[in-house]
Amino acid sequence: MATRSRPAPPEGAIDLESLVERGRYLVTAMACNDCHTPPRTGAAGPEPDITRMLSGHPQSLAMPPAPRLPKGPWLVVVGATNTAWAGPWGLSYTANLISDKETGPGSRSEEEFTTALRFGPESPGRE
Ligand code: HEC
Repeated sequence: MATRSRPAPPEGAIDLESLVERGRYLVTAMACNDCHTPPRTGAAGPEPDITRMLSGHPQSLAMPPAPRLPKGPWLVVVGATNTAWAGPWGLSYTANLISDKETGPGSRSEEEFTTALRFGPESPGRE
């Protein structure tokens, strides 16, 4: 956390720097990178590849069909990248969250993004 002080924003203005810091804190504390950032092998083992931060399942990584689990308490199969998940609902790839208009949710309004985050991608308010 930065310790330097900066002038308070004018009354009623949005302090973008604080918003970015708050977002960074939430993304880190809530482990979004664990599933939405493809990993790479670092000195201590797998770590999020921050050069591809929040870009979701790599398009270049075509997954073979998920193995079928026998009946029993095992329920979910996860790809080695943590970006592909298969279970009784089918197959899910972690979404690209970068704010690009073509490849990410950049064309969505803040309200649409918030709705998807709170209630899921098929929620009302989503195209
Ligand atoms: C345990 C793995 C996991 C973690 C941790 C995780 N996500 Fe996800 N997320 C997924 C998967 C898988 C999907 C795709 C779901 C689908 O397609 O139905 C998804 C979808 C999303 C979507 C929907 C995108 C769309 O197209 O509407 C948003 C937004 C999202 N995640 C944001 C976050 C944020 C923000 C965090 C951290 C607070 C986070 N996720 C943490 C696995 C994860």
